[in-house]
Amino acid sequence: MDEDRKFSRKAVLKAALAAGVAAPVALVGGPALARTNFAGGQKVEPTPYCHDGDEPTVDQIEGPYFKPNSPERGVLVDQNTPGQRLTVSGYVFGLSCQPIGRALLDFWQADVNGAYDNVGYTFRGHQYTNDLGEFKLSTIVPGLYPGRTRHIHVKVQAPGEPILTTQLYFPGEPRNNTDTIFDSRLLMTVRDAPNNAKEAAFDFVLNVQQTPTGGPTTSPTSPTGQPGGTSWTAGTSYPAGTRVTFNGVSYVCRQGHTAQQGWEPPNAPALWQKG
Ligand SMILES: [Fe+2]
Repeated sequence: MDEDRKFSRKAVLKAALAAGVAAPVALVGGPALARTNFAGGQKVEPTPYCHDGDEPTVDQIEGPYFKPNSPERGVLVDQNTPGQRLTVSGYVFGLSCQPIGRALLDFWQADVNGAYDNVGYTFRGHQYTNDLGEFKLSTIVPGLYPGRTRHIHVKVQAPGEPILTTQLYFPGEPRNNTDTIFDSRLLMTVRDAPNNAKEAAFDFVLNVQQTPTGGPTTSPTSPTGQPGGTSWTAGTSYPAGTRVTFNGVSYVCRQGHTAQQGWEPPNAPALWQKG
């Protein structure tokens, strides 16, 4: 079952790359994003927990450098902040890969010199996902500090659900091989951007039960279209802006792609927006 899942993930990603769809999918250097990870609506694995190994044993949840009450902001830099600019964007999903709106994300990281601000709130900020489950962080590539590979800390919480405390990692870092708490499942996909900046993507999957929509119990290839609307059909090439219906709900194509099973509009928020 695990092997099946791995295979289908790989197949989906491969197909995505071959079709040249969805810019985030084509990011290189990291594992598949959760948005590409499910075919046929099966459940996906939650993002693993990860905490600093050097945190006090009395508190297994919050690392030594976490501070509560960070400001609400997605931008942690201004024009004078030293460091290579980095954006991290992605989605927060539940176990059925449906986006979670109003999920809390609290990020904190080291500055360019590998130091945490434990007095103020530099490189600390929390934000909430929008209705599509999207978030975006504007920051710098964090500096290194002894004993750890490069990482960004984050807590993620769906409304009324337990907090996921974890860390995000960068592909190609030499210390990824020696950091004992490094976890390749937490690798972001990272690419170069203009002005020597970096663009990273990561999708969180929270351990939150959801009722799958458009999953295996419905027929993904025979959705019920509304009269007068074009029904979503696997194998069709949809340019951005195309409007379709799927199980009676209307969606607009966000990125041009060739539809395939597993990418039904309710399952693929990176590709289809309700409305
Ligand atoms: Fe850290």
